[in-house]
Formats: sequence, structure tokens, C-alpha cells
Amino acid sequence: MDAFVIEGGARLEGRLRVKGSKNAALPLLAAALLTDEPVTLQDIPDLADIRNMLRLLEELGVELDGKPEDTDGDWDGTLTLRTSDEASSHARYEIVRTMRASICTLGPMLARRGEARISMPGGCAIGDRPVDIHLRGLRALGAEITLDGGDIVATAPGAGDRRRLRGGQVFLGGPSGPTVLGTANVMSAAALAEGATVIESAACEPEIVDLANLLNAMGARIEGAGSPRIRVTGVESLGAARHRVMPDRIEAGTLICAAAMTNGDLTLENCPLDALMAVSDRLAHVGVRVEAVGPASAIDPMRASVRVTCERTLRPVEITTQPHPGFPTDLQAQFMALLCLADGNSVITERIFPERFLHVAELSRMGAQLFRQGSTVVVTGVKELVGAPVMASDLRASAGLVLAGLAARGTTVVNRVYHLDRGYEKLEERLASVGARVSRVDAAKLDAAVRL
Ligand code: EPZ
Repeated sequence: MDAFVIEGGARLEGRLRVKGSKNAALPLLAAALLTDEPVTLQDIPDLADIRNMLRLLEELGVELDGKPEDTDGDWDGTLTLRTSDEASSHARYEIVRTMRASICTLGPMLARRGEARISMPGGCAIGDRPVDIHLRGLRALGAEITLDGGDIVATAPGAGDRRRLRGGQVFLGGPSGPTVLGTANVMSAAALAEGATVIESAACEPEIVDLANLLNAMGARIEGAGSPRIRVTGVESLGAARHRVMPDRIEAGTLICAAAMTNGDLTLENCPLDALMAVSDRLAHVGVRVEAVGPASAIDPMRASVRVTCERTLRPVEITTQPHPGFPTDLQAQFMALLCLADGNSVITERIFPERFLHVAELSRMGAQLFRQGSTVVVTGVKELVGAPVMASDLRASAGLVLAGLAARGTTVVNRVYHLDRGYEKLEERLASVGARVSRVDAAKLDAAVRL
């Protein structure tokens, strides 16, 4: 197992390019199941979750041209997918358990093939992760859904190759708001359903807009993506398309926090500024400046170049995570690390995944002053964090610990960085390229005192 060894205190200075979004790419890849025509995606990030999704799609009969493992380490992020064999429609437990986002193959497979069998995803470090709303939505399109031996078994109404979902009224609201992948599943399925569908309380995340853009390029008729009400007019079939994955707003937010915590001066290219308005608002209150560079007329708000600098003293703020356009839960841990160094008390409330605080104990090992009450944490800023061996537990908590290590005095060892590799491509190399003193090591070679 790998670990990161970080010597804190180096300012981040220079230029980095934001990679394509993991959370956009996963449902975009699954959309290839909706057609037997070629779908080409560009700017796919090379991540563990992406490689797991590609492994799953191959098992489901999708041929891949341009796989990352077929290049010698310099994959350009472009891949063409073509469904050639629809015999196997079973997403097995062995793959689904490694990546619960496999659930986003359910809607496309059901819509195109009339049937789908997918292992019920388990929970993970941040919560139970139920899929009840996904299933409610697909049932509203006429699907018959049962559970068999831990698998979700879904069939569309009708017989043989005449099986086809029926458009309808779908409500996707839940106790914690809409569901992102549930919206992706239902929107993808409705694209091939007979008749019209209205999705109420749809997720408004930018990744849903990115998916709707691909589906419409394939011939779907989707309106309102990005708003709580999406209208879909079903079509008989979908065809070929080429699409560039939107930039990763969570990676961008993570890198912005890294620059701020090291009092750096970092320019980020391909930054989806328009998808980060809630984050920019909180950053401005903290005293972090994120300024688009270049002539105003030439700025693409979804792929801007931005310069990140910050004031000497960071101010405390209140943050509550919400469904988009609110503050994203996926940046909660990273902002907690940032606010550990603010001058005063901040309050962070987690409304999406109330248990998403595995980073709290680890940050406390580094001298952070954190007081948790249920889904709220009070962060009392400290003058400095102190390096220590810490344990990564889930993707974004791991990112928060890396950020803390970059700013801390002394050495931090972040163990189990396989969590990080799920969502950040070559993070240590990219941070080191802008001045961070971080290296990836085999934990077995570390002194037992720092190996957790
Ligand atoms: C997506 O997960 C993201 N993953 C998550 O990012 C992100 O944290 C989450 O959306 C919320 O923004 C991908 O896009 C691959 P949800 P998703 O369904 O779609 C409850 C990361 O770090 N819920 O929107 O699975 C659920 O428990 C990952 O990149 C139900 O109750 O999340 C949660 O409280 C982590 N029933 C809330 O809704 C359901 O059927 C939002 O979950 C579905 C969800």
C-alpha cells in the first residue's frame, strides 16, 4: 500500500491544469450502453474509479478503443466506446463493491436492453448510500424491479425485444435532497422510453448538464437539465457522438484550497468557475482570491484560467453543504482543513452525508481544534498545524489530510492513499510540479512508527 510523505511549509506557485471530472465521466461512460454506435469521450481522467468502470463496461459488452492501459503512461484521456455484445447485462458484485457508482449503468442498460441485473451497492465510509430513489424513479417508467441474492433485477414492460420503458412523471426528492446518480439513471433511461417524462426534484449538478449534453448529441430530446425539472421526450434510438468531459470542479476546489493553505500563487487552467459559485462565495469571505485571467471576452466560464492568491490572515466562515447550487459536500473536508488555519471559529454543517467526518479525528492528530456535535463541526483556527502520521479513509477526507500536510510544520505521512487515487490523477506529481515537497512511497518501507 502506498503512502504520501509530505514536508509541509512549501508555497504552491506555478500553473496546473484541472483534469476532466470523475463524477461527470462515470455516467458519461455508462451512456455508451444506450447505443451500438461509437461514443468518443475526451478529457477522461485516468483514475482507479474510471478504470473500474471501463472493466465493468467491457464485461457488459462494450468494446473500448484507446484504453489507458494500452498506452505507456501518457494516455491522452480520449476513448471510443462501442457496445457490440448485449448478452451479459449483469454488473457483478466483485466490481460493484469496488465502486458503487457502477449503479449508473442500471438506467442505460435497462432502457436499451429491456433488462439489467446489478449488484446492490453497499455503503461506504461516508454513509449508507441507499439507491431507493433510483429504483422509485425507474419503477415510475414502468420497470419491474426485484431483489435477488443481493442483486437488483430490473425489466422493462413488454415481451422479448419489444420491451420498452414508458415515459411518466418521476419525483426524485429524498430526505437529503435530490440524487445525482439517480437523476443520471432516470434521465438516461427516459431518453429511450416511449413517450414523455417529467423528472421533478432532479439533481441540478453540472455533471447532470454534462450528461444531458452528451445524450442530446446522441439524439436524445432533453430540456431543463441543471434545473429541478427535466423534461425528456423519448426517442426510438440513440446514435454516435463525441464529447469533451467537463472539468472537475471538486479537483479545482481542492487545488484552490491547497494554494490558499500554503499562501501560494497558483494559476489553474481549465477551471469550471461557473460551477463553483457557492465555493467562490465562501472563499471570498475567507480571504482567498480566485480571479479569472485573460481578456473578459475570451473567458469560457466553464474552462477559465484563474489565479489563486490569498490574504495573510484567513477569516472564519459558516459552511453548510447542500445540493447544487449549494456548497458541495465533496469539498467539505478540504474546506475544514483550510479553516483550521483561519483566525477564529468556523462552523461546518454536513447536510448530505451526516457521517462524512472521518477526517476530523485525523486532522485533530495534526493539532486542529475541532468540536463535533452530530452533523456540525466547530473549527477553532490555530496558528499552525503539526505534521503527523495520519490515515486516509475516503476519497475527499484523504484530500483534506494532504492539504493539511502541505501547510503543517514538519512531516506528515498520509497512509492508504489508494483512497486518493480513486479521484485524483497523479496528485503528488502535480503538486510537486508547483513546489510541494510530497512523494509517494511504499508504506512497507516506512518506519513502523509512521506506518498506520
Ligand atoms: C454523487 O454521488 C457523487 N458521486 C458523490 O461524490 C457526491 O458526494 C454526491 O453525488 C452528492 O453530491 C458521483 O457522482 C460518482 P446522491 P451519488 O445520490 O449520486 C441520499 C466523491 O467524493 N440518497 O446525490 O451517489 C444519499 O444517501 C463522491 O466524488 C437516498 O437517500 O449521491 C445522500 O444523503 C462521494 N436514496 C443524498 O441522497 C437514493 O436512492 C445524495 O446522494 C440516493 C441517494
